[in-house]
Amino acid sequence: MKIAIASDHGGFTLKQQIIEYFKNKNIILDDLGTNADQSVDYPCYGKKMALHILQHKADLGILICGTGVGISIAANRYKGIRAALLYSLETAEMAKRHNNANIIVFGGRTMTLTDVISRIEVFLNTSFEGGRHQKRIEQLDSE
Ligand code: RB5
Repeated sequence: MKIAIASDHGGFTLKQQIIEYFKNKNIILDDLGTNADQSVDYPCYGKKMALHILQHKADLGILICGTGVGISIAANRYKGIRAALLYSLETAEMAKRHNNANIIVFGGRTMTLTDVISRIEVFLNTSFEGGRHQKRIEQLDSE
């Protein structure tokens, strides 16, 4: 599975920590920036990740801004994107089981690394249920 990651300045530190965590497990995340903690605009990184996923350059995206809210809004403007802000373990499970999220989102200023890693692991170890949930996610992209 190919995983890409991106953040604005509010998520930069957490992004680097997540990259490091996965590197220690021999999993290399595709880093779409930002590359420093100078102020940048989260819509730009939400868009960059959305297009990356829609062009099938990664199977899953991880996005981070200060709260996770702005960059979720940005990514979810693109048809075919299901970006889910994982604020608990239960949300992490259900975002995969029911929503089949293709981007998971975190808040660099509102969440700890330990919590975020646990939520990523739960998301990755859960399967999409399909069935009635497939019909519902198809409705999201219908006219
Ligand atoms: C940047 O200061 C901050 O507004 C951004 O990271 C994010 O939290 C927006 O929702």
